[in-house]
Amino acid sequence: MIAWDDALTVGIAEIDSQHKSIIALINDLEALKGQGDDIAAAKALQFLRSYLHDHFELEAELMLDLVYPGRAAHQQQHELFVNHVIFFEIEKEFGVVSEQMLSDILAFLTEWFLTHITREDRLLGAFARAQTHPG
Ligand SMILES: [Fe+2]
Ligand SMILES: [Fe+2]
Repeated sequence: MIAWDDALTVGIAEIDSQHKSIIALINDLEALKGQGDDIAAAKALQFLRSYLHDHFELEAELMLDLVYPGRAAHQQQHELFVNHVIFFEIEKEFGVVSEQMLSDILAFLTEWFLTHITREDRLLGAFARAQTHPG
């Protein structure tokens, strides 16, 4: 279970609200652990992935609009993440799905997401706010 913490605030309303939704989706996936329901877990993972895709797109557009200097590095992190999640899904397609795999996915998602928000997304938020309210 991830609990929302003010330390996760980026300061851009739309991004913060999407981050909260993503945390809720990760928690939903967590709730499926130990249920042995492969199909529900696969659906929840798929939904989370498409939500994340839209979220990364929103951040990418913002970075482009702001001519954000850290754009390439930030986008690369998003891509590495997506590739990693795709890798999990490929394994799943070949039937290598297990309780252990769901645990691994959750551990990875949680760790990656919280680290990414507190570093890259917060830097982006600070930059965006400085542009809107200079000084
Ligand atoms: Fe984000
Ligand atoms: Fe990001």
